[in-house]
Amino acid sequence: MKKILATGGTGYIGSHTVVELIQAGYEVEIIDNLFNSKATVIDKIEKITGVRPKFYEADLLDEEKLDQIFAEAKYDAVLHFAGLKAVGESVEKPLDYYRNNIMSTVNLLEAMKKYGTHEFIFSSSATVYGEQEQPECVETMETGRSITNPYGRTKYFIEEIIKDYAIADKDFKAITLRYFNPIGAHSSGLIGEDPNGIPNNLMPIIMRVSDGRIPELQVFGDDYPTADGTCRRDYIHVVDLAKGHVAALEHMKNGVQIFNLGTGQPTSVKEMIKAFNEASGKELPYKIVGRRAGDLAEMWANADKANEVLGWKTELTIADAMRDTINYLNHEKEEHGE
Ligand code: NAD
Ligand code: WQD
Repeated sequence: MKKILATGGTGYIGSHTVVELIQAGYEVEIIDNLFNSKATVIDKIEKITGVRPKFYEADLLDEEKLDQIFAEAKYDAVLHFAGLKAVGESVEKPLDYYRNNIMSTVNLLEAMKKYGTHEFIFSSSATVYGEQEQPECVETMETGRSITNPYGRTKYFIEEIIKDYAIADKDFKAITLRYFNPIGAHSSGLIGEDPNGIPNNLMPIIMRVSDGRIPELQVFGDDYPTADGTCRRDYIHVVDLAKGHVAALEHMKNGVQIFNLGTGQPTSVKEMIKAFNEASGKELPYKIVGRRAGDLAEMWANADKANEVLGWKTELTIADAMRDTINYLNHEKEEHGE
């Protein structure tokens, strides 16, 4: 049985992937500094899978601690989810983003080299494509050129670091996964997206509007050249995304492979609101406001490569994601006695 380290494993995508990995028979350990997640996620993972993953509360910037952890455990592979991800904040605090995201990756690669761990999966993002002539993104397109924020550039720089490192270390096997827009929650309702602080992404904002923590959703523009005028994105259920990592682990080979993880289908903001209303039986209050700086009218994944090479494809729908999000919200309310 392969032993896996999941950095950022108590976070949103990490926790769902840890569940899928355990259910696929892998032994998993987690490092997270709990900057944007809670230690109780470990209890939830245990409740879902019956297995309690070993958890290190540690910061990847702490090289000594990282060395100790790697010295103790012989990992076969590292899945690197940990990172800061708020686009707006990255514009305000670029150095925090460069230090945290880039230095932590370099530290990890050094620890892997020292202790003979050769397999690496990196959580990259559709953001590396920036603005393209066509909205359907293919892995072979040029990346990096028109990224508008430091967060996105950390993802691009890390992708390049991984490529350089793979040239130097012939035993290194890396997969870079470019996630599109992850949404939804585990069907158990026990884990989901629960960011600390004020969220920036559409679904966490919809969740907060639905339970009254935010009065209404502001829809950023309805004058885009799309059918209903609102932006279109490729929203992927987080459980499908998590399963993409299990498929990737089964297809590691020397060098770097890059895959988009998306559905291949775009959905507009208005369609997202409609789907949420259908799942909740309520009307989400929203208002059309001006465009958000840097937003693209539409982008979605060409997921052919992941479909063909990894034998993976998405199975869940937007309606499934909305149902699971509402179920998760209800579980959270019950847990907090509301
Ligand atoms: P998340 O914030 O829920 O999870 C990231 C976790 O990393 C958090 O639990 C945080 O506490 C931890 N962390 C951050 N810095 C750390 C450090 N220095 N040491 C240890 N732990 C640290 O985010 P997520 O949505 O699960 O995203 C996971 C990864 O996927 C991130 O790298 C993110 O950039 C990337 N990604 C996310 C999205 C998205 O929309 N959610 C899209 C594309 C890519
Ligand atoms: C989705 C759509 C908004 C909030 C970001 C990052 C990207 C990646 C995914 C990590 C857009 C609209 C949103 C609101 C709205 N993350 N919207 N009102 O912009 O596709 O990508 O998350 O890598 O790097 O940039 O996702 O969830 O912010 O927005 O109308 O209050 O919802 O305009 O069309 P985005 P998002």
